[in-house]
Amino acid sequence: MRALIFGITGQDGSYLAEFLLQKGYEVHGVMRRASTFNTSRVDHIYQDPHADKYVFKLHYGDLSDSSTLRKLIYQIQPDEIYNLGAQSHVRVSFDIPEYTANITGLGALRVLEAVKDYQEDTDRKIKFYQASSSEMFGATPPPQNENSVFYPRSPYGASKAFAYYMTRNYREAYGMFAVNGILFNHESPRRGETFVTRKITRGIARIKAGLDKKLYLGNLEARRDWGYAKEYVEAMWLMLQQPVAEDYVIGTGESHSVKEFLVAAFQYAGLPDWEKYVEIDQRYYRPTEVENLIADTTKAKNKLGWTASTKFEDLVKIMVDADIKLLGSEK
Ligand code: NAP
Ligand code: GDD
Repeated sequence: MRALIFGITGQDGSYLAEFLLQKGYEVHGVMRRASTFNTSRVDHIYQDPHADKYVFKLHYGDLSDSSTLRKLIYQIQPDEIYNLGAQSHVRVSFDIPEYTANITGLGALRVLEAVKDYQEDTDRKIKFYQASSSEMFGATPPPQNENSVFYPRSPYGASKAFAYYMTRNYREAYGMFAVNGILFNHESPRRGETFVTRKITRGIARIKAGLDKKLYLGNLEARRDWGYAKEYVEAMWLMLQQPVAEDYVIGTGESHSVKEFLVAAFQYAGLPDWEKYVEIDQRYYRPTEVENLIADTTKAKNKLGWTASTKFEDLVKIMVDADIKLLGSEK
């Protein structure tokens, strides 16, 4: 089996690549050219092109660049494509809405269109996974499942909703095996440093090491359904192994506030007086907020046999431990 991953250098892309390699896949990934190294999450699985068994291959490309992604699909001839590439930061999407729509929204369409043409030209089939998001539910009250109404509250959420509907449309219009995994927030030690969980655990490590005195945050009242990213990539793969292409909600079924995460993380790190270190800064608030997300994962449980094993308390511990260790080794 051959898989092509857009967004391989991201949190999920790196876990998915590891997972598929363990399953015996040949894994191809698309990375952006950057002036600094952007492969730190996959460096540990990087292979020299001259290796005997060369099964992990990186290619330059960008979701804004149809001709290159089309060329890659024709050259690689993957059995499965996972589109995890996105401008994925909700707050940033208010600053760069057009770019976000182009990459997070239109990027998915560019891949779908290339897959459609490839299938028509070659008579081969490609299964397509779209990284849809609980952000699409936005203001719709929890719990949210596959039938809940979308009410996006950000350019990011609206762009993901566009990509979601295009994925469904290509499934219905052209009979493509195209699925949406509607994933709720999932975190890990590989989470980008500006998402709130990682910002907190990294901030704690720096405060403990005496490198920072304060941690500046925004809205502490928002609630999220936080799971462990390493487990969620299995659900992505399972969706593509089903006899019929369908969309699935993936989460833990629990919701916690940012404040709860903050308190649990500071306490676990041995700093129970968290208020000494945390300041609220308006710049981290969003013009419109998503207040509460809780996944109803009944369908995933019944059809995929998938449930989240790592819950809130364990996730906090994994992330705090990892950031304290990382800072120690950097020092
Ligand atoms: P992430 O760490 O931000 O990774 C995003 C990936 O997309 C990175 O590899 C990034 O490359 C790549 N990318 C960005 N712009 C691109 C472009 N113009 N062309 C090609 N690739 C581009 O995100 P993640 O947490 O792994 O999430 C994976 C996907 O799931 C994203 O689509 C995200 O929106 C979606 N999602 C995430 C969550 C979550 O809680 N993590 C929940 C629901 C849905 P660089 O490394 O070069 O920046
Ligand atoms: N990033 C950030 N930074 N968020 C903060 C901060 C801060 O300093 N302070 C409070 N928050 C609040 C945000 O307002 C939001 O309500 C919550 O923390 C979570 O923010 P993020 O961690 O940035 O994640 P997100 O929920 O907006 O988006 C993530 O999850 C989506 C799935 O629901 C991203 O991974 C998206 O790509 C993903 O689709």
